[in-house]
Amino acid sequence: MKYNNSPIGIFDSGLGGLTVFKEVRKILPYEDLIYFGDTARVPYGNKSKETILRYSMEISKFLISKGVKIVVAACNTSSSLALDGLRKEESVPIFGVIEPGAKKAVEVSSGGNIAVIGTSATIKSRAYSRVIYEEINVLKGNGGYKFKNDFKVIEKACPLLVPFVEEGFLNEEITKKIINYYLNPVICEKPSCLVLGCTHYPILKDLILEEVGQDMQIIDSGIETAKAVKCFLEKNGMLKDGATKGSELFFVSDDLEKFKELGERFLGRKIENVSIVNQFL
Ligand code: DGL
Repeated sequence: MKYNNSPIGIFDSGLGGLTVFKEVRKILPYEDLIYFGDTARVPYGNKSKETILRYSMEISKFLISKGVKIVVAACNTSSSLALDGLRKEESVPIFGVIEPGAKKAVEVSSGGNIAVIGTSATIKSRAYSRVIYEEINVLKGNGGYKFKNDFKVIEKACPLLVPFVEEGFLNEEITKKIINYYLNPVICEKPSCLVLGCTHYPILKDLILEEVGQDMQIIDSGIETAKAVKCFLEKNGMLKDGATKGSELFFVSDDLEKFKELGERFLGRKIENVSIVNQFL
């Protein structure tokens, strides 16, 4: 049996990727994890492709310099716009969150429309719909096609939700109103499932369910990505050897104290071992 004891690198534009980190930790308890949150340059969701690619490359190189065996771009915006560029450049396998989330949506959909919500950059890139249509074509090829003739992917940018979560407005009336404003037109298209295509949205899952109805199937790309990472490590003999609790290291590019304080909200527990890295600024 082959093993690989190097850590897994996970990065995000800021704190949001901790929702993905949490899922990876849940299903890979023995793996050593290194997280980088680009808190100095967040948000990525309203930036250009060139800038997002440059930031993502700098961070991936940093993580690789720490000896990681794979890099997970937990950020939906980076995954939408920088993944191909990263895969061309970097020496370790690079994972994104779009493909696992999109594939799960096609799998669970009853054949009705699929809705995706995310940052402006993610939605503009159409990264989710690209993978969804590719997957549907695969189904067509092997006879498993189930989608209605007028099937469509409904993509909706919800840019205000990130700052609301960052400010801790998790259960306020104003947050409910904004969710209603964004999701009401989406519900009118009668989606069969809804993809949370942004790291911050799982934190608002209960409010989102209140808006779209409790029986809506919600796809959390972070959960699907964690499963895909586990599967890849198993298949390639890259899991850590032994059953000792995995270590955790966190790096941020600004405001370590704020990261610790808000990060607890994402992770649901205290965050230790955080260091500042300002080499990119
Ligand atoms: N992490 C980003 C994402 O998942 C949201 C925050 C940002 O705009 O940077 O798209």
